[in-house]
Amino acid sequence: MANLKQEISIRRTFGIISHPDAGKTTLTEKLLLFGGAIQVAGAVKSNKIKKSATSDFMDIERQRGISVATSVMAFEYRGKKINILDTPGHKDFAEDTYRTLTAVDSVIVVIDVAKGVEPQTEKLVKVCRMRKTPIIVFINKLDREGKDGFDLLDDLEQKLGLTVTPLSWPIGMGQRFKGVYNRYEKKLNLFSAHGKQTQEETIEFTDLNNPELETHIGEAAAKELREETHLIEEVYPELDLEAYSKGDLSPVFFGSAINNFGVKELLDCFVEIAPTPLPRITEERQVNPEEDKFSGFIFKIHANMDPKHRDRIAFLRICSGTFERNTNYFHVRNNKKIKFSNPTAFMASKKSVVDEAFPGDIVGLYDSGNFKIGDSLTEGEIIHFKGIPSFSPEQFRFVENADPMKSKQLAKGLTQLMDEGVAQLFTKDFNNRKIIGTVGALQFDVIQYRLKHEYGASCNYEPVNLHKACWVECDDPVKFKEFKNRRKRDMAHDKDGKPVFLAESAWVLKSTQENFPEVKFHFQSDF
Ligand code: G4P
Repeated sequence: MANLKQEISIRRTFGIISHPDAGKTTLTEKLLLFGGAIQVAGAVKSNKIKKSATSDFMDIERQRGISVATSVMAFEYRGKKINILDTPGHKDFAEDTYRTLTAVDSVIVVIDVAKGVEPQTEKLVKVCRMRKTPIIVFINKLDREGKDGFDLLDDLEQKLGLTVTPLSWPIGMGQRFKGVYNRYEKKLNLFSAHGKQTQEETIEFTDLNNPELETHIGEAAAKELREETHLIEEVYPELDLEAYSKGDLSPVFFGSAINNFGVKELLDCFVEIAPTPLPRITEERQVNPEEDKFSGFIFKIHANMDPKHRDRIAFLRICSGTFERNTNYFHVRNNKKIKFSNPTAFMASKKSVVDEAFPGDIVGLYDSGNFKIGDSLTEGEIIHFKGIPSFSPEQFRFVENADPMKSKQLAKGLTQLMDEGVAQLFTKDFNNRKIIGTVGALQFDVIQYRLKHEYGASCNYEPVNLHKACWVECDDPVKFKEFKNRRKRDMAHDKDGKPVFLAESAWVLKSTQENFPEVKFHFQSDF
């Protein structure tokens, strides 16, 4: 038990989120370098799909390969065990990212100094704020010209709804970038422009009024820094750890990931303030990490890259107790015991079999089709982890079997891909036609390609004119029946049989909502 508490206290499980190109991959790599998990720069491949090569199949396959390797990157730093969970930046894979965010305890948001807050960041931070996930912001690329520091803070407050406290502050930027003043440690970090520095020149500076400041950064910059830090003290709140841990206050750091500048300060602060594994909510009760009985949930499923081996990797977030290899655990949805002989842990790009794992850890389980996203594993208790959402899709197509000899393969392939969370399948109630709904258009190509290569099945798509699919419910069974009858042609059910209303247009949705006030329309469904 003491051991379990100790293991929990050293763990920090987080995700880095950003709009593509802000520098997530570069920052991840620098963090791993500090942890000694990798030795050379360039070891972490970007998992992004290049924007120019739209829906190129090789890119999709490459992305899948890379994203298995980088799904979880663990490293040790200053006595802490840090798990970074990778989040795809591409908007068509946003659902993967949303689900991964259910498995982290905090996030670091990377912002490009020149671009400020971008749309993808806005969406992802919204999900974090809904869950009250603690957020640290890293403003990147200070070696380039960008927006003014105060304008960026305004952007964070207005577009992301964050209350911020800058813990470091830039001195100039672009050509004139001299470094940052680290308000958290009261140190001046000087940037040298000779490229990829690994060590920063750091000077203790408890009092910025010390005239020595001029000798380091020059008169004009010193004056400006004094004025700006004074303003910061007046306008922004002090760091309050409780507010941070409730998701109500976000520390902000400035730096340049590619130059490894400002990254160590970020990491040093992160290991000190970031939360240890947090409790998780289930439909039945709250699960605390210190409980001695093991529990966890599956937040991501990844198909094997090799089509000859149909097995998949299910990613398990451990929520309480100790997970042990070769031990029987209870698969709640299937109501059966299951044990794992080769649970896998991820250390940077290396995989290794683990004998035990603790709350906050992510373990990869080889799976031949037993798991769905959201499944719980326990020592016997029946609990269902909450908040692993399935979002209302925005793109739709009818899916038809293109090879009558392979209808079984198609059905199996579709079921498994839906279990993985690639897309959602709806069946229309009145004619049984199947509709695939996705968040991004790229998924249609992914599905067609994977059905062919992994299941030997072919499908065709046909256009369907739909605006949204929403899950519907109603407390009054009579009214609900009437609604379903009147809207018969728009009704479908999802893979779990839950009723879904298919709205042709925003107008139809709105008027249906108005005509049936007692029916609740949900834009997301918990798995
Ligand atoms: P992402 O994972 O968020 O999509 O971003 P990634 O790290 O791949 O970075 C996107 C681009 O920004 C890369 O350039 C990267 O080198 C650059 N970058 C990252 N940090 C900094 C920084 O601090 N300063 C500057 N000036 N650039 C930075 P690229 O040309 O797209 O790729 P590459 O050819 O350099 O790999």
